[in-house]
Order: sequence, then C-alpha cells, then structure tokens
Amino acid sequence: MAFPIHRARRLRSSERIRRLVRETQLSPSQFILPLFVCPGEGVRKEIRSMPGNAQLSVDQLVTEAEQCRSLGIGGIILFGIPDTKDEFASGAYDPDGITQRAVRALKRQLPDLLVITDVCNCEYTSHGHCGFIKNGDVDNDATLDWLAKTAVSHAAAGADIVAPSDMMDGRVGAMRKALDDAGFTNVPILSYAAKYASVFYGPFREAAESAPQFGDRRSYQMDPANSREALREIRADLEEGADMIMVKPALAYLDIIHATRQEFDVPIGAYQVSGEFSMIMAGAQNGWLDLDRTILESLTSIRRAGADFILTYFAKRATELLG
Ligand code: PBG
Repeated sequence: MAFPIHRARRLRSSERIRRLVRETQLSPSQFILPLFVCPGEGVRKEIRSMPGNAQLSVDQLVTEAEQCRSLGIGGIILFGIPDTKDEFASGAYDPDGITQRAVRALKRQLPDLLVITDVCNCEYTSHGHCGFIKNGDVDNDATLDWLAKTAVSHAAAGADIVAPSDMMDGRVGAMRKALDDAGFTNVPILSYAAKYASVFYGPFREAAESAPQFGDRRSYQMDPANSREALREIRADLEEGADMIMVKPALAYLDIIHATRQEFDVPIGAYQVSGEFSMIMAGAQNGWLDLDRTILESLTSIRRAGADFILTYFAKRATELLG
C-alpha cells in the first residue's frame, strides 16, 4: 500500500469522486432552529449579540416557522420569554403561558411542522436560576414538580417533543411519569443529558433574558473538565425514560459526542449554541472567515463526531446552502 502504488490524492481529484466517497452527509431534516417567542403583536426585537436572530411575538413566530417548513428544516425548538417573572417560575407551567400559546398557534396553522419545546425555568424566574432557590442554591426535588407540570402543559398545547435543559437530577423520570399519567404516553423526551456549565451560552442569556442574578449554574450544569461523567448522566437519563439525548455545547465537546456515539444506540442531538453562532458571525462580519463555508464545516464536524441531528441558529442558511 506504499507510495507510489498508493496515492491518497486520487480519490480527491474531482468533486465527482469526492462526492462519491464522502463519509458524512448533511441534510436539512437534521437541523432544528431555536426560536424565541415573546408577548405582544408584530414584535420583532433583534438580539444584539446574535445578528439575524430576534425575539418574536406569536404572529411573527408563525411567519418564521412557515419559512422553516417550506425550506424543509427538521423542526424548531421554542424558548419562551414571559411578560413577568417570579420566584416560582409560574409562567413556565401556566397553561396559558407564552410558550403554550405559541405552540397552540403553531399547531393550528402549521400542524405538520415538528415543534420541540425547551423545558426549563430560568427564563421564568425573577432570579434567573433554573429552579426553586433554597439557602442560596437551586433545590433539586422542589424543582421537579415545576418541570413535570411544564412538560404536561407543553404536551397539552400540542408539542411534539419536550426537551428538559435544567440539569436537575431525576427530571426525566418525573416528567415521564407526569406525561404518562396525563395520557401523553407518546410524547418523547429529548433530554439535554450532557449539558455543560459553558461560557458559550452568553449570547443566549441576552436573547432569553435569563442570566442568573447571583452566582452561576455550576452546582447543576456539568464541569467542562469531565467526560466520563457525561456518560453517567446520559445513562441515568436513559434509565429514567429519555428517548433521545443531547450534548451541549457542540464544537468544544466533539469528544463527548463521539464517546456518546460509541457507547449508546439512541438518537443523539448536539446543540451548536449561541456563543458558537456568535463567534462565527463575528469572524465573518470582520471579513476574517467565509461565513457559508464555516457554517457547513462546523455542522459537518458535529455530524462526523456522531450527532444525528443538530440544533443550530444556522438552520435556515445551511438549508439554503445545501439546496
Ligand atoms: C436554559 C437553556 C440555556 C440554553 C438552552 N436552554 C441557557 C443556560 O443554560 O444558561 C443555551 C442555548 C444557547 O446558548 O444557544 N437553561
């Protein structure tokens, strides 16, 4: 197999051949677009740190979702930004809350678009943490009840999949039980199983107005230094009934995606988070990076590492590029 008999460049010599031997494919059906929904009408409030993304009122959200559907994107994931926040995240599980109203409108007007809802409390609490605060920290078990109620209210509104991102222990089991008890036995849970306490969520917290008002999330989200722990988290969530799992962020955690692919046979999602999006946009806006090629290379890398689908703010552009 040595040179000159063997020449690796032969299989790279034309796009016709390269296309034939390409190991990793991207398809629009694997992309999920995150969208932010807020109260009001006709509202399109641009997010400064995430160029091209905006908080959208329900009517604008439906228009945006319509575009996603006609492009053939896999689906959308919704984050709600409520009018008012309180200590008990009441807006999260209010049957008439912002996310629930948005899901109902989407399902009424675009019934065949896949709608995932993010289940968490940080957008709904006055302190910006992901659960009930007791003695200066998030109380795990008290928070489970909120999460279970939220999941049921999203399913009742018509959500296709619920996706807990809070990182409380036992949330998948609590949500599965509540969903089943309410008759939603067929609504799958996509668990953000390996979610790291990452600096790359910075722009999202501006977008969702969910930055913690004191401390940080390191007592519930994972330490970026750990990889074996990710597999333990995933195993636990699968045992509790998760149907699919997610690794988040994506590009700085490709090793975790790969290890997960080796170890588990469930569908794996990866979240190319806000900071990943904003870094690429900043590079492109400065003329330092070619935006379109960076989008496709970063998404290909995430797929190559082992993700089946990708939550990405580039879902629309990437779909256009593949078209
Ligand atoms: C809610 C949540 C966050 C993200 C998704 N769900 C923020 C956080 O954990 O602080 C981040 C997504 C992104 O950065 O794009 N807990």
